[in-house]
Amino acid sequence: MNNLQEKQMTKTTDLGGAFTFPGATLAIHRMGYGAMQLAGPQVWGPPRDMDAAVAVLREAVASGVNHIDTSDFYGPHVTNQIIKQALHPYPDDLVIVTKVGARRGEDKSWPRALSRQELIDAVHDNLRNLGLDRLDIVNLRVGGVMGPAEESIEEPLTVLAELKRQGLIRHLGLSNVSPEQLAEAQAITEIVCVQNLYNVANRNDDGFLDNLAAQGIAYVPFFPLGGFSPLQSSALDAAAASLQATPMQVALAWLLQRSPNILLIPGTSSVEHLRENLRAATLRLPAEVIADLDSISRNPKQR
Ligand SMILES: NC(=O)c1ccc[n+]([C@@H]2O[C@H](COP(=O)([O-])OP(=O)(O)OC[C@H]3O[C@@H](n4cnc5c(N)ncnc54)[C@H](OP(=O)(O)O)[C@@H]3O)[C@@H](O)[C@H]2O)c1
Repeated sequence: MNNLQEKQMTKTTDLGGAFTFPGATLAIHRMGYGAMQLAGPQVWGPPRDMDAAVAVLREAVASGVNHIDTSDFYGPHVTNQIIKQALHPYPDDLVIVTKVGARRGEDKSWPRALSRQELIDAVHDNLRNLGLDRLDIVNLRVGGVMGPAEESIEEPLTVLAELKRQGLIRHLGLSNVSPEQLAEAQAITEIVCVQNLYNVANRNDDGFLDNLAAQGIAYVPFFPLGGFSPLQSSALDAAAASLQATPMQVALAWLLQRSPNILLIPGTSSVEHLRENLRAATLRLPAEVIADLDSISRNPKQR
């Protein structure tokens, strides 16, 4: 390794700073990786290039990423199997966060799967496909991708709390939920993270994430780059040009600076994009750039 590479390593090693989940048993870097893009088109079947998928995961971990977000319904099963192939036996500090509560229909749809038996089967599928005896964190995914539905989550969460007591799960989180559903959940079991839709252009959860920050609970935005149609905005382009960065790096840096409880899980199937995204961990946005980026938010509504 030459001097320049060594310097780059030291700079990205901190990967956005550290976060310790409630309960203090798991600590990670705030810049992680979301594995959904590793499956085939429409998150279905094997990837076009299996070697490239394995390379993305290995490069992420070699760069210091120790938080990977996944689900057994990506593929289905394929993404977890690639994670196992690429990284098992896992480094001691790697935290793999998975989610249950949906399944895949033959038409590639994402129906809910919240019955007792479906949840038990999903936890066992995750354990088997990841090659683990215990899952670090399991998110109960309740609402759809575009937002939570107001309904009780007591029944499905009680099933997962039982599996936690049995030692199959270390910590529980929630996905696609409202503040009311979080409060209901906290009367049943400890919740260490919430995973909802949020990015520089979609800030519906502004109030919710501040509330979670006050409680020390992680907020893990999915679609941090806009998801299947990555973010496009002249404000992002202008900020990127002024900072000699890319618009995607600015979008990620904005999230890191937004709140210390935000953990990033940008998804990519490309090593180049992965490297670009990880470099965002060292990008600092000046206050005036952050003010300019406020113009992108389409959803001033808060909850
Ligand atoms: N809880 C839930 O309901 C839920 C829903 C969706 C996702 N998730 C989780 O959230 C994670 C992140 O979400 P996501 O992957 O859907 O969305 P994302 O991170 O917002 O964006 C991924 C998209 O951006 C592209 N991309 C990534 N880096 C790029 C770069 N530097 N330049 C240009 N394009 C880039 C990717 O294409 P390339 O592959 O070509 O880079 C992909 O199309 C997922 O992996 C998953 O674990 C959870």
